[in-house]
Amino acid sequence: MFNKITVVGAGNVGATAAQRVAEKNLARTVVMVDVIEGIPQGKGLDQWQSAPIEGFDSRVIGSNGYDAAAGSELFIVTAGIARKPGMSRDDLVKTNAGIVESVAKEIKRVAPQSIIIVVSNPLDVMCYVAMRASGFPKERVIGMAGVLDTARYRAFLAEAMDVSVEDIQAMVLGGHGDTMVPLISYTTVSGIPVTQLLARDKLDAIVTRTRGGGAEIVNFLKTGSAYYAPSAASVQMAEAIVLDKKRILPCAAWLTGEYGLKDVFCGVPCKLGRKGLEQVLEVTLTEQERTDLHKSAEAVRDTMKSLG
Ligand code: NAI
Ligand code: 2OP
Repeated sequence: MFNKITVVGAGNVGATAAQRVAEKNLARTVVMVDVIEGIPQGKGLDQWQSAPIEGFDSRVIGSNGYDAAAGSELFIVTAGIARKPGMSRDDLVKTNAGIVESVAKEIKRVAPQSIIIVVSNPLDVMCYVAMRASGFPKERVIGMAGVLDTARYRAFLAEAMDVSVEDIQAMVLGGHGDTMVPLISYTTVSGIPVTQLLARDKLDAIVTRTRGGGAEIVNFLKTGSAYYAPSAASVQMAEAIVLDKKRILPCAAWLTGEYGLKDVFCGVPCKLGRKGLEQVLEVTLTEQERTDLHKSAEAVRDTMKSLG
């Protein structure tokens, strides 16, 4: 258990993540920080009052400033605006870059040794903004996207084959956008290659649906984007860090030559433990997967350029 975990942004993803962190007893104190007066305080109090029912001891509090977050070991950054129908994640770049930059500076001020899990979009570029503004090493700035994209892919596969989601092993790499790279060559059902169980056209349709998984939900909701699966994905990463589980999860990491990519955040298989990002695993990719991964990283770079 950590002493303190802070979730920045008490909106849909942030508040749901805070509740999940508390329900898993990952920290003695869970702090929610948001700029809207009363929202983090009200949601924090409401969540804390669910503790006797749900049986957790994490104390949830809300604040509009960072003093309450001082000394947090881990931050989950969800502050920013979310997509509306027709908007791409990249449309959010200018607004969210300013927000994430100011948040990262505050984190550096109140908790210079902490680990940051970035959620705000466009994800890979916001990781870069957070790393640049905090000055933290690459081990302590990690982006959440691959766990979510992989969960969507696994859910669609389980549905198509009528099997348990638990038996689908898979990884979606690349940037968190339309160019993401579901790795069919590493997709198995209890160790059986998925290509032996599902026709190629069905598999291709699932890959396409996964790439548009976020937009599919935005089109239903109209006024916001997904948050149940995104919060679950962020908290799975947090849990791996808090419990030093050494889990291998697809996360956005700052690459320094792995997969032939350098100076860019991109989704790759990562080992998460108490130190944060403990290792980037380099696995063999097919030629097509490698080309697709490079294309995806290029798309991240293009958005990075718009930051100046
Ligand atoms: P939301 O609009 O429900 O919540 C965002 C919250 O951030 C609001 O409460 C807002 O007041 C707060 N905020 C704005 N500026 C702030 C600041 N300077 N400091 C602290 N709080 C601030 O949005 P939602 O649905 O929670 O999404 C949050 C972000 O996460 C969006 O950028 C969204 O695109 C992204 N996202 C990323 C996913 C991923 O896979 N990486 C998945 C889902 C959402
Ligand atoms: C998602 O994939 C909007 O990035 C968010 O749901």
